[in-house]
Amino acid sequence: MPLRILQNTNEMSQPANTCEEKSFHSKLRSHQGASNHSDPRVRLKPSQTINDNPERNNLKWLKDIVDTECQEKIPEEIESLQNTGSANDGDIDASGDDTCDSSSPSQDASGESARKNDRTQFIVAYATYVNYQRESDYQINQLRRNLESLPPIHQKWLQSPPPEEDANWLSQNDRLTYMRNCTTYNYKLICDMLVSSVSFWSVPELKTSEGLKKELREVKCHPNDLHDFVVKDYKSKFNTEKVRSTLQQIVREWSEEYELERVQSYGIILQELKKRLPVDDSNWNQIRVLCPGSGLGRLPLEICLAGYESIANENSYFMMMMCQFILRKSTRKNQFLIFPWVHEVNNLINPFYQLRPVYFPDVLPGDRLPNSKFECYFGDFLELDNDYHNLDAICTCFFIDTASNIIEVIEKIYELLKPGGIWINLGPLLYHYSEINEMSLELTLTQILNVSRIIGFDIQNPTLVESGYANDYASILQVVYRSVFFCGREGRER
Ligand SMILES: C[S@@+](CC[C@H](N)C(=O)[O-])C[C@H]1O[C@@H](n2cnc3c(N)ncnc32)[C@H](O)[C@@H]1O
Repeated sequence: MPLRILQNTNEMSQPANTCEEKSFHSKLRSHQGASNHSDPRVRLKPSQTINDNPERNNLKWLKDIVDTECQEKIPEEIESLQNTGSANDGDIDASGDDTCDSSSPSQDASGESARKNDRTQFIVAYATYVNYQRESDYQINQLRRNLESLPPIHQKWLQSPPPEEDANWLSQNDRLTYMRNCTTYNYKLICDMLVSSVSFWSVPELKTSEGLKKELREVKCHPNDLHDFVVKDYKSKFNTEKVRSTLQQIVREWSEEYELERVQSYGIILQELKKRLPVDDSNWNQIRVLCPGSGLGRLPLEICLAGYESIANENSYFMMMMCQFILRKSTRKNQFLIFPWVHEVNNLINPFYQLRPVYFPDVLPGDRLPNSKFECYFGDFLELDNDYHNLDAICTCFFIDTASNIIEVIEKIYELLKPGGIWINLGPLLYHYSEINEMSLELTLTQILNVSRIIGFDIQNPTLVESGYANDYASILQVVYRSVFFCGREGRER
């Protein structure tokens, strides 16, 4: 299902080589030059990890913002967002009308054109987002119960400040209170995003909790499953972990703090694309590039800005809902605030690292698309049809290992490219289907290269490059991939 998320409103005709683009590449070069000299100790300094404004690098600022702005109400126009209940003691929402009603008449007003599977995915993602606050409360209440179960003397120690003054000290009680406030703040943003999704996908029936429950029944999900997931069933369809990881994906793709991480992956891909298929006035917007697994859309946006016709492709509604919100609703830089690390309770140096906020977007997407061709295709990459054949390039970033059969992905890339077209890949081989009870094919790099050559790709000089993925660089745990980077040319005769 192709979706035109961004309208091209800006009539400026020649966007080539903007300052922003130049600085992106100079940062790439300076990073490449500097990578061997980095001092790991700098990661421990708050000023390196939060932002450039020292006034914001402490809990006082956080208290101010959370205490005042958290009072904001969630949007009133969507009643279902306010009626999700709270998980005080792990109780399910006892609204009295949770029985499955298979006899209720089918009312699928918005789903006429969408396939049933799409609709199920949409409803499940929507309901999981709606459930975020309740699920967060459940986590925090569990932590509070653990605290209260401690011997009184241990509880007292956790209330006692250190002898020397520490602006970032919080009692464990207060820490949990702030966790609750930060999740409320996240939920406010999620609600704004859901309001905009309801209008973008024209699903007014989701505005009421009755409507949402009815839709859940129609896609064969019991409304109580939402909460059961939290309590006992981590294999439920309502995977709240996806909401949390989408919040962290926002940081990776759309925050100033993570520019270096983007340069290390998107920047390297873009540099290779420009080298292989240069753009100038004569072919502006004429070279067609597809980004499968495009997440929140930043890589295809950067490709578009560099003068290519850019097609984003994503199959998760968790991502697509947030993506449309960022692309359509951002009106100023750093307009929104989230607390992406609030659920992380391990490997923390102090509570502030957990409670620190991140602003987004670092750039205004709409402003940056003069005279551009940018399109989003929602759906499975493996099912892309003829409209997306004959592509000049396909860029895969942290994508190929998401498939259960990576060979199908490589075959599809080959099929979609025009003769001589190029495939640029960067990412790890952390197979997403591995270790769950489903078909999974975990090929090594050498096997992938061999299969790709058999299929018809000419791949020269594959390398390994260091890259993070929404890595919490204030954490004691650091995850750095040695990502596989290569460019393959489709080998058919022209
Ligand atoms: C690890 S994320 C990478 C996101 C982005 N490329 C980046 O580097 O930041 C992989 C993305 O691929 C999407 N994805 C997985 N399988 C897909 C498929 N068959 N078709 C389209 N998108 C898919 C996932 O939903 C997810 O957003």
